[in-house]
Amino acid sequence: MNLANALEDARARYRARNPASERQLAGAAAHLPGGNTRSVLFFPPFPLTMVRGEGCRLWDADGHGYIDALGEFTAGLYGHSNPVIRQAITGALADGLTLSSHTRREADLAAEIHRRFPSMALMRFTNSGTEASMLAIALAQVHTGRRKVLVFDGAYHGGVLSFGGGGSPINLPHPYVVAPYNDLPAVAALVEAHGPELAAIVVEPVLGAGGCIPGDPDFLHGLRALAARCGAVFILDEIQTSRLSPGGLQAVLGLTPDLTLLGKYFGGGLSFGAFGGRAELMARFDPRQPGALGHAGTFNNNVLSMAAGLAGLEQVLTPQALNDLNQRGDRLRERLNAVLATADVPAHFAGVGSVMNLHGLPGPVRRPADLAGANHALRELLFFDLLERGVYLAFRGFIALSLPFDDAACDTLVGALDDAVHARGALLRG
Ligand SMILES: Cc1ncc(COP(=O)(O)O)c(C=O)c1O
Repeated sequence: MNLANALEDARARYRARNPASERQLAGAAAHLPGGNTRSVLFFPPFPLTMVRGEGCRLWDADGHGYIDALGEFTAGLYGHSNPVIRQAITGALADGLTLSSHTRREADLAAEIHRRFPSMALMRFTNSGTEASMLAIALAQVHTGRRKVLVFDGAYHGGVLSFGGGGSPINLPHPYVVAPYNDLPAVAALVEAHGPELAAIVVEPVLGAGGCIPGDPDFLHGLRALAARCGAVFILDEIQTSRLSPGGLQAVLGLTPDLTLLGKYFGGGLSFGAFGGRAELMARFDPRQPGALGHAGTFNNNVLSMAAGLAGLEQVLTPQALNDLNQRGDRLRERLNAVLATADVPAHFAGVGSVMNLHGLPGPVRRPADLAGANHALRELLFFDLLERGVYLAFRGFIALSLPFDDAACDTLVGALDDAVHARGALLRG
């Protein structure tokens, strides 16, 4: 059997095992395009419908149980049933859901975030990371009086700011300068050419959706210096990487952005985004000032996100808990890579701490272009093999651990990969 036949067979077995998920998608397609309202979740022949989660476990519509290695693409840091978060949500509900006003919680949440991210002298909240990215770029453009935005090939800052595979046709219509990741001389040349017109340099310190590719410290510091030199606003997208240390990667790297983007778990598992940074930039939104910029948003300070986010930061996410989680992730990635290397499978997990991504080629990778020769069929086969063994991860091979994803869950994941690799034998070898 070759890889293509094995994959066809794996898809057929998946279809046979999951009739309720298939029916669910078919029904949903009557009113949602392809049955889907969140593109990242779809994979052929049809994605799973989950019906319940608890701790780091999930159950699908056909009754199969999984360990949840996907962790809601990093937003599910607290797992499914953290008692503190649940209590915060029910407590907030008791005081009224939509207060049509300022509330105490948004100020407390902002103070907690500032304690962890001192570069965010002032901040604003949004409903999603996408919105935070949009507003930070708009602010940079207004502040500098310039239009161009330097971004990186393979970067993802939201559904309308997506630069994988040549960029999305629904991206916001800014004039973009698209640079190669981890290539400071190339960026310096682009800044030389476009500097006086550049409003912002926007970068993820680890390319997340682009494959969990870490940025070199020298590269990231170099970008900071280039932005300062040409007068562009340096925007660090820590929507994923904020979980990699108590103060995000900016604390680890000693990097001070002009604006930081946050999202995901800061809402305690509910919808959330934030952008913030230097006071003189963010003060443009101060409504007490004449000519202030407007940033309305019915749910910017929604009661449940504020309450769940605050409880998570104040009571659950201690520096120790987060550092332990990331160390667990580092150990897990080493073990998974050892399984692949020992069995001579040309694949590896890239990543940092508690986030990682399986690629169908041996590592390391430095930029998305390095993935051009990756064997996607091999990765897809391992994806279906892991699902069948009770491990839920993203179709693109992405994994983000949650706090309840303990050593036993790591053992289960390593065991499932080991079993899959041995069952496939020579088929997976290069
Ligand atoms: C680095 C990064 N920026 C921005 C976003 C967009 O956030 P949201 O999905 O909340 O709009 C994401 C989401 O995956 C992300 O990973």
